[in-house]
Amino acid sequence: VTQNTDDNANPPRFTRANMISIAAAVGTSFGLSPAAAIAATAPSISAQAHGKIDAEKGVSFYGKHQAGILTPQQRHTYFAVLDVTATSRADVIAMLKYWTAAADRLTQGLLVDPMTDAYNSAAVLNDSGETVGTTPQNLTITVGFGPSFFSKNGVDRFQIAHKRPAALVDLPKFPGDQMIEGKTGGDISLQACADDPQVAFHAVRQLVRIAGKAAALRWVESGYLPSSAPGDTPRNIMGFKDGTINSSDADKDIWVGEEGPAWMENGSYMIVRRIRIALEHWDRMNLAFQEQVVGRSKATGAPIGAKHEFDAVPLKATDKDGNSVVDENSHVRLAHPDENNGAQLLRRGYTYNDGVSFVAERWPPWRQAMEYDAGLLFMSYQRDPRTSFIPMFEKMSRMDMLNQFTTHNGGGIFACCGGIDSGKVFAQKLFT
Ligand code: HEM
Repeated sequence: VTQNTDDNANPPRFTRANMISIAAAVGTSFGLSPAAAIAATAPSISAQAHGKIDAEKGVSFYGKHQAGILTPQQRHTYFAVLDVTATSRADVIAMLKYWTAAADRLTQGLLVDPMTDAYNSAAVLNDSGETVGTTPQNLTITVGFGPSFFSKNGVDRFQIAHKRPAALVDLPKFPGDQMIEGKTGGDISLQACADDPQVAFHAVRQLVRIAGKAAALRWVESGYLPSSAPGDTPRNIMGFKDGTINSSDADKDIWVGEEGPAWMENGSYMIVRRIRIALEHWDRMNLAFQEQVVGRSKATGAPIGAKHEFDAVPLKATDKDGNSVVDENSHVRLAHPDENNGAQLLRRGYTYNDGVSFVAERWPPWRQAMEYDAGLLFMSYQRDPRTSFIPMFEKMSRMDMLNQFTTHNGGGIFACCGGIDSGKVFAQKLFT
């Protein structure tokens, strides 16, 4: 059952009168065709009203918080960063308006533009339609704003420079960073997560399309998780269970509270890092060393010196020679809240896999070869990166044994504002 078919059966939902008034209200100055404008701003159709069962209803775009943060992690992500090319504040507001309506439809499994008789007509822009026949697949769309959205090259393009939160800092250059310009920064992040990769890609593709001339793609990355059994922690491509420990107190660690600013309340700051893993190097390490690096058993995920995956990490335990059981430079020790003033993150990353590229190895026997450009699209959410990710990674980037195998070469920081109720426009508070 798909709502798309329902749409097909009821094309007149989007009346011409509606079309004209909406187009007039938001304008089309950044190149949206009136057809795109109508569909994107039309009221959404309740999935329930069409007799759909809840499981097929999808994850609502609306709510106190943006979906896709605490939402149980879907199998796939398509993450895109755009630069705003619009020059007027009004065009940015209009784009956010279109995106709100489109995101509402997409997360219900609907096409952005209904399939009408005009479908495929060269005269109008239309949804590409590759999700017809699928369910919503738990699609979530999470939007964030990078520092350059607020002002770029010293120019306050949209009169919002004063709204930039203090916590949305420019990330420092950490030791070992090898940032690729074309995989770093950007004005607006659009993250689609879904249990179907085509559904995730479709969502971003539509949002970029209806942005028209108002925004242009800067960089993208897609990612996936393995199909582990329900309740099992998925393994990353180093073979370890990844995601065992995450913040368990969202109000303390993840959501922005009264400290604001108001438009960020109930939102969160997102850190993205594209981390290439030297898999060829890792694969030549023996199991005991791999476990020492991570600080956990590869088979069970249990901390070294403990029995079960969810046992506490025995940070204070020592062996007969007085050495720490969990290596002083192991990843889990350095990332543990007890070593970071209690700071905890919500990690919600995905494996990325981008083929191969030519690499001069930094380890014996210093081969030069085509190697996998694969690793972790690290994504974490936190209430304030200045007291969590930044000091934590500042230390880890110098001390973590994992660094022998990892290179951070892209990413950014984005302010993901609070959620909205149905009928409101996304990020409206930022512009009032
Ligand atoms: C390719 C890079 C990375 C890999 C392969 C990786 C892998 C892992 C693994 C296997 C664990 C143990 C299981 C778990 O608790 O989920 C872990 C834990 C953790 N990692 Fe990473 N990680 C990477 C980068 C990072 C970065 C850049 C940070 C942030 C600065 C980070 C923060 C954490 C935290 C906070 C924990 C939980 C620690 C705890 O409370 O016990 N990781 N990571």
